Formats: sequence, C-alpha cells, structure tokens
Amino acid sequence: MSKGWNGRAPAGRVAYVNGRYVPHGHAGVHIEDRGFQLGDAVYEVCAVVDGALMDEEEHLDRLVRSVGEIEMAMPMPRNALKLVLREVVRRNGVQDGLLYLQVTRGAVRRDHPIPDKQPRPSLVITARSWDVGGAKKRHDDGIAVISAPDERWGRVDIKTVQLLPNLLAKTAARRAGAYEAWLVDRDGMVTEGSSTTAWIVDAQGRLTTRNLTRAVLPGVTRRVILEAAAAAQLPVREVAFSLTDAQAAKEAFISSATGIVPVTKIDGQTLGDGRPGPLTRRVQELYEAESERRAKGL
Ligand code: PDD
Repeated sequence: MSKGWNGRAPAGRVAYVNGRYVPHGHAGVHIEDRGFQLGDAVYEVCAVVDGALMDEEEHLDRLVRSVGEIEMAMPMPRNALKLVLREVVRRNGVQDGLLYLQVTRGAVRRDHPIPDKQPRPSLVITARSWDVGGAKKRHDDGIAVISAPDERWGRVDIKTVQLLPNLLAKTAARRAGAYEAWLVDRDGMVTEGSSTTAWIVDAQGRLTTRNLTRAVLPGVTRRVILEAAAAAQLPVREVAFSLTDAQAAKEAFISSATGIVPVTKIDGQTLGDGRPGPLTRRVQELYEAESERRAKGL
C-alpha cells in the first residue's frame, strides 16, 4: 500500500474477490482462508502499460506452474481469467500501474495437510496506478542496495505469498537508506533481490544474472531482457556471481515487473563513477521499446 494509506478505500477502487467486483475498502476473504491462515497461496504481479497487461502470457504461464507445483487448481479457465484481469484494470481506470493477483487454496477448517477434497480456490485481483515521481527518480538516478543473508525456503522458484524473509530484508534495506536487499546464499553468492532479479555487468562487459534453479524466481522481466539482449547481440551470461564480484562490477541493476532500475552502490561501495552505466541504460531502452511493442500487441 502507498504511504499513508489509512485502510479506507481510495475513491472508486474496485477489487475482484471470488467472482465479485467489490469496493476495495470492503474486500476480504474468509478468516479460514488457507492463504491467510497458512500462507497456502501463490501470486503474480503484472505491469499495466498504456492500459494493457505487460507480458500477460508469461505471467499466466508462471501462475499455472506455481499452482501446479503446490497441487492446487487454477481458479478459472485461462481465457475467463484474462477477461477478469482486463475488467479490473478498466474498472480501476489504470493506464500505467500494477496488477496483483493472489490465488489461495481456499477456506476450510484449519489443518496442515492439503485436504483430500480441496476447497474452491480463492482469487483476489487488484490494480493500482504508479507512484510516478519516485519510480522515475530511481529509474534515472539509480539506487543503493545492501546485502542480507538469504533465509528463504528451498523452493523460491514458486511464487508464493510467503514473503516474510523477503520483507524483513527489504525493511533492513530501507532502514539503511537503500532501496533493495540482495540476498546472499551460504556460499557468498547473490541469489536475487528481495523482490527483484539481480544483474551485474562483469569486467568483460557481459550482462550477468544467476542461472535458474530452485534458488531464484524465474523472473518474467529477466526472460524478456535476455531475449532482447540476445537479439541486440549483447553478451549475456546466466551464472551465479558473488557479492565480491558484484561490488567489483562495472555496472549493476535490478529487474521486475516494476521496471529496470540501475544499482549504483552495494553495501556502501560505489560502482564505477556512481552513475547508471551505459549497458544498464541500453537494457532499459531495449526493455522499454519491447514494452511499447507488446502493449500495442505487435
Ligand atoms: N516481485 N525475484 C523475486 C523474489 C520477486 O519477488 C520478483 C518479482 C522478481 C522479478 O520477477 P518479475 O520480473 O517476473 O516481476 C524476482 C514482484 C514484483 C513483487 O513481489 O511485487
């Protein structure tokens, strides 16, 4: 929620909850919902660009995978879901912003095992416009990151709502005057940001991001960047890098549905001249061109 949100519905905001469009301030799921009680739920975040959902198919593919990995069913057929996503964007008048979608295993008497007869999944969809000022400044000037131990479970390739380690790391970053925390595994290697994919440009000028395993979320933006970089013949590497590598890197940036943001400082160590680097700028441009192309359905 944006800073200062007081629990009341912002004028006119509408949420989709289990088949109904309801005023945001009155939207809720049952107290026995397993998403609320047990974190038994998955989610997606999708950018809205010019009123269109960015990388919608890729986000839906990942959602299908996430629900499958935890033995849950999709809450509705894909085409019907796409209509609801559009309707939530439309009803909230979002031109440029973010759409959030949570699918939980549903409401049932609390007990740990997955019930033999599964309840109907709960589906919550919300959309909101960007906080444009802050995002533009970060995009143009870059951000500082701090490192934090990666204390998450072993299946972070599934996009679950169990985000406590992520939000604690993010909070530590904000309190340290940084924007993001880069999570570091027991071998001193960076996995990813608390809510973003981590990238560096190595000494040979190669765009570098960690290879996909169960230790990182397969970022949709990551994939779009890799494809765009390959098409533009930029050198790329999918390999683990250490925190020391990152601090010695020429450039660094983060990516997610919320955009591509240069990193200019890691744990107080300034990268290069402290300004976003040329390859980072090139990736931002390539990604923006690709977003526009996709938003126009080209
Ligand atoms: N976060 N890694 C983590 C841990 C993430 O939570 C995210 C996305 C990403 C980037 O994935 P994508 O490019 O598909 O957005 C990587 C979203 C934005 C969030 O939780 O708000």
